[in-house]
Amino acid sequence: MRKFDPDTIRNDFPIFSRKVNGKELVYLDNAATSQKPKQVINTISDFYSLHNANVHRGVHTLSEEATDMFEKARKNIAKFIGAVSSGEVIFTSGTTESINFVARIWGEKNLTSKDEILTLVSEHHSNFIPWQQVAKKTGAKFTVIELDKNGELDLDLFRKHLSKKVKIVAISHVSNVLGTIFPVKGICKLAHEVGALVSVDGAQAVGHIPVNVQSIDCDFYSFSSHKMFGPMGVGVLWARQEILNTIPPFEYGGGMIDAVSILNSTWAETPDKFEAGTPNVSGVIGLLAAVDYINKLSFESIREHEVNLLKYLSESLKKFDRIRILGPIDLENRAGLVSFIVHGAHAHDVASVLSTYGIAVRSGHHCTMPLHTSLKIPASVRASLNVYNTKNDIDKLIFGLKEALKIL
Ligand SMILES: Cc1ncc(COP(=O)(O)O)c(C=O)c1O
Repeated sequence: MRKFDPDTIRNDFPIFSRKVNGKELVYLDNAATSQKPKQVINTISDFYSLHNANVHRGVHTLSEEATDMFEKARKNIAKFIGAVSSGEVIFTSGTTESINFVARIWGEKNLTSKDEILTLVSEHHSNFIPWQQVAKKTGAKFTVIELDKNGELDLDLFRKHLSKKVKIVAISHVSNVLGTIFPVKGICKLAHEVGALVSVDGAQAVGHIPVNVQSIDCDFYSFSSHKMFGPMGVGVLWARQEILNTIPPFEYGGGMIDAVSILNSTWAETPDKFEAGTPNVSGVIGLLAAVDYINKLSFESIREHEVNLLKYLSESLKKFDRIRILGPIDLENRAGLVSFIVHGAHAHDVASVLSTYGIAVRSGHHCTMPLHTSLKIPASVRASLNVYNTKNDIDKLIFGLKEALKIL
């Protein structure tokens, strides 16, 4: 375990040595993607410099090395999320692909016009559109549950929506706009009581709070490497082994077969069955380096740091008359991000002024148009935190906001 010190942690991230618009970088767009530590960058560079070969194909030394590194990553990532076995971990290009996989391959096989899909109004488009579209295709009912005024899910309301018709609940672990940490364990218990499965979008959770798929007792869990210090273009779909055994392949090609003849083909066991073609080997190995990095910092320290900064950020934002914060008031129930609206100013204008001070925040609808429509706002500004952020970053954000409000 490593001592948690944001200043030394910051030194791990080469990007902070550059200037943005002549200023030190204040990176508060972590919910979009995290920065990458040198431990991850060097791992990827070492792979291409020393071990580069395709996996599961050759018997030569480099191919064996690459395969060992790739499968070691699968094993350790499985352990990281509490999977029963590494066979339950499928590498995808990210959360979006993982959810599309579940909606198309599980959904199209299992849903009919007699069934219902439940989701929340706050879902990211990646966890909304795939289910909306599979509903159109299969005739299943697509039901979208509203949140309460604090951006939380009223479990009584959720219970009222449950019936034997519901076959799948598609829900995020953490909202990318409201920061709400949803009670996924309780949701899974209630859903399972009526025989529904639960697919959890963990894009904003993994790397910030501990995730154990067995303890949550979900059926599918998706996440992206790039939001947790790993490289872009790689992610994970975790699913229960018994479900994976019943669903057909996602794509066809090399590496996923048992035998192929002119008339027929049979499939390899999971996870290979679901990983057609050359996988993102360097990405997966880089993701393992990110997991090791997180483990060394420990979730207790990461969460404590993020909650402390979250309190400071919320208190600082509350001092502005023109700012309204979205999402839960109880910060213990909130991940390290705050979205807000500035009365009388468009979110993009606020973010543009902040950028001139080297401050990176996200503005817009954050791929959650149904939520913004429900809140009756066109857009919001989002500041999202990570291990390398400090109170100094928040002070700079507040200074930038004061300057922005003078001219907007
Ligand atoms: C909650 C949530 N789900 C899904 C996604 C999609 O992730 P990716 O673009 O890595 O596939 C995001 C990305 O912002 C997200 O915040």
